[in-house]
Amino acid sequence: MTYEVQAVVARAKGEPVSIETILVPDPGPGEAVVNVQACGVCHTDLHYREGGINDDFPFLLGHEAAGVVEAVGEGVTDVRPGDFVILNWRAVCGQCRACLRGRPWYCFNTHNAEQKMTLKDGTELAPALGIGAFAEKTLVAAGQCTKVSAEAPAQVAGLLGCGVMAGIGAAINTGGVTRGDSVAVIGCGGVGDAAILGASLAGAAKIIAVDVDDRKLEWARDFGATHTVNSSTAEPVEAIRDLTGGHGADVVIEAVGRPETYEQAFYARDLAETVVLVGVPTPEMRIELPLLDVFGRGGSLKSSWYGDCLPSRDFPMLIDLFLQNRLPLDKFVTETIALDEVEEAFAKMHAGEVLRSVVTF
Ligand SMILES: NC(=O)c1ccc[n+]([C@@H]2O[C@H](COP(=O)([O-])OP(=O)(O)OC[C@H]3O[C@@H](n4cnc5c(N)ncnc54)[C@H](O)[C@@H]3O)[C@@H](O)[C@H]2O)c1
Ligand SMILES: [Zn+2]
Ligand SMILES: [Zn+2]
Repeated sequence: MTYEVQAVVARAKGEPVSIETILVPDPGPGEAVVNVQACGVCHTDLHYREGGINDDFPFLLGHEAAGVVEAVGEGVTDVRPGDFVILNWRAVCGQCRACLRGRPWYCFNTHNAEQKMTLKDGTELAPALGIGAFAEKTLVAAGQCTKVSAEAPAQVAGLLGCGVMAGIGAAINTGGVTRGDSVAVIGCGGVGDAAILGASLAGAAKIIAVDVDDRKLEWARDFGATHTVNSSTAEPVEAIRDLTGGHGADVVIEAVGRPETYEQAFYARDLAETVVLVGVPTPEMRIELPLLDVFGRGGSLKSSWYGDCLPSRDFPMLIDLFLQNRLPLDKFVTETIALDEVEEAFAKMHAGEVLRSVVTF
């Protein structure tokens, strides 16, 4: 059986998205069809629509989602119909060089569905990050379904599928933030605020939020920032050093993805400490740093891909913490919207009015 459902499609570069009827095939071997219950609007969906990722139009957008498994294909044993799952874009292969070295969170050969979802005329769709969940149903590799407690509301759970996991993981998994650390986070959108929350969960003593927007800094306090710096009026490197005994922070997380904020992060950390780049730059961006400073300041310069998360390990743990009222993931949901409001949600995101708009079905 083929399912016919409504979905948000980006047909051409820079053009507004449209609601289309799409065809979702029955799951083949190793695949699952999921009834999507909620899907957050992430900056990356907008990057796809703007042609910033690649030119494989038409895209089926949406990738920060949770739902219930409808059907599974042959050989699928980890999930079954009725399971409540978060969709992930790191279905690890177990066989690549990263997996074989015991570092599956870097897996270089992650799985997606083999079959294609299509428009009614048969045009193949490219699902965003191999997911495509601004749709009532979507087809994924079964390994992209991570089972979590069904007590969590879908609009909250789905956020772990991308931005919130990326931020929490940037602090905890990549940055290795631990109790007593000083941490600075540059850029306090959904990802930066999640990094603040992660740093707070890990026991950081001082968490300095940096943004150019006062409203964002106010929200950052809500997630655990102990100090805030508006970098449109104050020099952020100096401000962070002043707040850390003149030395700089132990871990500085860049959550914007721009050369100037990366340079701020580089100089705002203490000697021998860590910079984590979680913001995604565009291809033309360049940085120039004195090599002597790279040497002389020591420490580690790291990138965080999807928070270096292992979905099977991290999603259920974070959902459990949420259910125990120890991780306020619900604060990321600024609004819930209908499927036909994604284009408006992009505008609000662009204007900085929301942390997350979440489509609910
Ligand atoms: N590495 C990953 O796996 C991963 C996953 C998801 C998203 N991301 C990336 O993380 C970045 C942030 O995503 P988001 O959803 O939080 O975006 P967002 O647009 O919600 O937030 C960006 C924030 O940066 C602030 N900002 C802009 N310019 C600034 C400057 N010069 N100095 C300080 N702050 C500034 C904005 O005011 C805003 O609060 C994006 O680049 C996104 O693509 C990375
Ligand atoms: Zn692998
Ligand atoms: Zn995303």
